[in-house]
Amino acid sequence: MTTVLHLTPDRPEPDLIADAAACLRRGGLVAFPTETVYGLGVDALDAAAVRRLFAAKGRPADDPLIVHIASLDALAALVAAPPPAVAALAARFWPGPLTLVLRRSALVPDEVTAGLDTVAVRVPAHPVARALLAAAGIPVAAPSANLFSRPSPTQAGHVLEDLDGRIDLVLDGGRTQVGVESTVLDLSGDVPEVLRPGAVTLEMLRPLLPDVRMRVAAAAPGPQRSPGLLTKHYSPRAPLTLYEGPADRVLARIRHDADLAQAAGRRVGLLLPDDDAAVTAARLYAALREFDAAGVEEIFASLPMASDGLSQAVTDRLRRAAAGRVVHCG
Ligand code: TXA
Ligand code: MG
Repeated sequence: MTTVLHLTPDRPEPDLIADAAACLRRGGLVAFPTETVYGLGVDALDAAAVRRLFAAKGRPADDPLIVHIASLDALAALVAAPPPAVAALAARFWPGPLTLVLRRSALVPDEVTAGLDTVAVRVPAHPVARALLAAAGIPVAAPSANLFSRPSPTQAGHVLEDLDGRIDLVLDGGRTQVGVESTVLDLSGDVPEVLRPGAVTLEMLRPLLPDVRMRVAAAAPGPQRSPGLLTKHYSPRAPLTLYEGPADRVLARIRHDADLAQAAGRRVGLLLPDDDAAVTAARLYAALREFDAAGVEEIFASLPMASDGLSQAVTDRLRRAAAGRVVHCG
């Protein structure tokens, strides 16, 4: 049985938070809102509980988890010799949607890191997440609270769609603000690399990390530094085809292909990003799930026009959802 608790997003009820924190300390699986997407939390130091989490999500064990902590103070126990940049990054971006990959300490179970010698850590900003972490007093490993390969949840209802009956508790704190997952920044190598783009952009990192760069995803399958960057990810049930190129060509081609599909009796969904990439990011995953709910059989999508702010993150997620079905126009 999965229990749902409704919280006031910006002033979460302390008694409900205490119940959820106790559940986590008992090894329970608790879904909670962060500012990015809903996470499925578990005591990061309880290896058996972490294995239950992988089973509940249907997630392959070689995909490591992000450990969520209440504040920078909790980092020291989890990592070995953090580089000097960490203090400045934390001061600027925590709490917030930035995950740091650092060399790990012996305290972190292999189940959390998938056996890697690094651990991913972040301090989330959502008041419910902050209250939960403070009350639990333990590091909380939390992947996005969806079934493996499904779009990440941005509402409690999405969590229940995927995981009702498979987890102990859902804290319903309304819709998440950012809508796409945190920026993952790897500080364990010689050059700082963004493994997954998010709301904290390269441009925002560069003043603190002048040599930071985007990691180019490995083309071939096989062992990867961030297995969550596999192509099949964030997918709706209907196949999504992504149209890339000049806006006028893209629109003409989408209209043509959508007309053909409709004439063939297929239910079609169109995903055309807003001018403001932040708006698109906030709605993206809910839109993909709405297509599924509406019985859409084929989705045609275009990329955001701008290339600043959250557009990189939206582009990244759309390319993954397309899983190679890309039409280059003109
Ligand atoms: O915004 C977020 O990050 C959300 C909320 C819940 O915090 N969490 C999230 O977790 O998106 P998940 O598990 O869906 O994605 C974690 C990503 C994956 O791409 C994973 O491969 C990568 O972080 N990751 C975790 N540990 C890593 C490590 N040690 N080295 C490289 N990548 C790592
Ligand atoms: Mg995920």
